[in-house]
Amino acid sequence: MDNMEAMFTHELEDMYSAEHEILDALDEMAEETEDESIAEVFREHRNETEGQIDRLEQVFDELGRSPNQEECEAIEGLIAEHEEIKQMDPNPKVLNVANTVSAEKTEHYEIAAYGNLTKLAQQMGMDEASDLLGQNLEEEKRMLGRLEDLSEEYDYESIA
Ligand SMILES: [Fe+2]
Repeated sequence: MDNMEAMFTHELEDMYSAEHEILDALDEMAEETEDESIAEVFREHRNETEGQIDRLEQVFDELGRSPNQEECEAIEGLIAEHEEIKQMDPNPKVLNVANTVSAEKTEHYEIAAYGNLTKLAQQMGMDEASDLLGQNLEEEKRMLGRLEDLSEEYDYESIA
């Protein structure tokens, strides 16, 4: 890798793949929870994720490249770990906690990735791209806050 644009493109393609994986994961988690308020959070973020994918496509456009997905092994790893817990056949309350934890881990990854991409775009003088990536970053931060609020509300004693 010989320049910043190559790194930026690689990271962008990684997130473009990650967001598509996350779209499916959010669908699945919204469906499998019995708690309507939790399902609603996942559904809302699923819709936000579609908007994030649109913004990434606009960034590719500003770069003069067509959107391309570079397999995001980190997100695939987080999804695989979540599958492992599900194979342990958790009861519905434990599954809610497991879903929230998986989603929080994903948000931390996305916040780091978008924070970096936002800065790189700025360094490269791509103001519009930086603004779009910054919007994705803010949505991820908001989502992390909502997930943290959700996990505060869990009645862990009733789970045990
Ligand atoms: Fe996202």
